[in-house]
Amino acid sequence: MINSKIIATGNYTPSFILTNEDISKFVDTNDEWIVSRTGIKERRIATDEDTSDIGTKAALEALKSSGLEAEDIDLIIFASITGEMLTPSMACIVQKNIGAINATAFDINAACSGFIYGLTIAHSLISIKQAKNALVIGAEVLSKIVNWEDRNTCVLFGDGAGAALLSASEEKGIISLYTKSVGEKGDSLECGALSLRNPFAKKEEIQSKDNHVIMDGREVFKFATSAIIEAIEKVISDGNCSLEEVKYIIPHQANYRIIDFASRKLNIPLNKFYINVDKYGNTSAASIPIALHEMNNNAMLQKGDKVIIVGFGGGLTYGAALIEW
Ligand code: COA
Repeated sequence: MINSKIIATGNYTPSFILTNEDISKFVDTNDEWIVSRTGIKERRIATDEDTSDIGTKAALEALKSSGLEAEDIDLIIFASITGEMLTPSMACIVQKNIGAINATAFDINAACSGFIYGLTIAHSLISIKQAKNALVIGAEVLSKIVNWEDRNTCVLFGDGAGAALLSASEEKGIISLYTKSVGEKGDSLECGALSLRNPFAKKEEIQSKDNHVIMDGREVFKFATSAIIEAIEKVISDGNCSLEEVKYIIPHQANYRIIDFASRKLNIPLNKFYINVDKYGNTSAASIPIALHEMNNNAMLQKGDKVIIVGFGGGLTYGAALIEW
C-alpha cells in the first residue's frame, strides 16, 4: 500500500473585512447576537476576485512551499459550490494559471465537506498509482449565493481559499478516512442553480429554485453535532488510535457552539480544537485547508503529530481524516 502525506499547504483570503457591525447597518442584527450564537466577529468578502482566482493563489502558495515544480503536479481536485464557470472546471482554470501541464484536473461538490472528500479521492488515486502529487483545493466565494437580506444566513458565511499538496510517500500520512452523505436531508441546506430551460420545457412543470442559500439552522445544527462526533470516533477506531494521542482536531469552521458541543460530548478539551471562525465565518470547502495552513505556518504542526480534520455540510455530507503530520 502506497502512503500519501501532506507535504505543503497554502491559503488566501480576500483583504476586504466585513464586520458584524457593518452587517447590522443593512439587516436587523447586532454583534452581540452573532457572537453569542456563532462565535463569528468578521468575515472576508471578495470584491475583485472570483473563485478560481482565490483558489489559484492558495494553490500557488502550497506549490511554492513544497519545493515541487508545477509540472510535478499530476492531479488537481477543486472542491467548491461557488465556481464562476460550469465549464471549464475551476480545477482546469487553476491548472492553466499555475502551468500544471501534466495534471488531470476536476471539480467536486460536497459543500463544506469538500476538502475531506477531495483528500479522500486524491489519497485513493495515489494509492493505486494514478497520481503522485495531488493539489487539493477548497475555495469559495459564498458572498455570491448569500441572501444579503436574510439575517438568518447572511451573518454566517465568508469567502476564502485553502490548498494542500498530497504526495506519495514511504512514511505514514493519511492514516484513516471516513466520508458519508445523507441525501434525504438535503433540503435543510439548499441553494438552487440553473432550472430547466429549453424551447420544449413545460412552463407549468418548472419550479425554479431560489439561487441563494436557504437553511433550517436548527436542523443543520442537530445534524452537525452528531456528524462531527460520529466521524471523529470512526477515524479514531479505524486508525487504531486513541483521542489522547491526537494533538489537534481541526473542524469545519461553521459555528463556535457546534465545536464547543462536540468538545463536551467527546470529553476533549476545547483547546485541542483549532478555531478561527471568529475571523472568517463559514467558508465552506475552504475552512479546513485555511485552518491547516494557519497552523502549519505558525509551526503548530510537527512531524509525527496526529491530527484529525472533520467536516459537515450541504448535501448533507460529512467526513473526517486522521493524519500523521
Ligand atoms: N440577528 C438577530 N436575530 C436573529 C438573527 C440575526 N442574525 N438570525 C436569526 N435571528 C433570530 C430569529 O429570527 C429568531 O427570532 P424569533 O424567535 O423572533 O423568531 C431568533 O433569532 C432565534 O432564532 P433561532 O434560529 O432559534 O436561533 P439559533 O439559536 O438556532 O441560532 C443559528 C441560529 C443559525 C446560528 C444556529 O441554528 C446554527 O448555528 N445552525 C447551524 C448552522 C450552520 O452551521 N450551517 C452551516 C453548516 S455547514
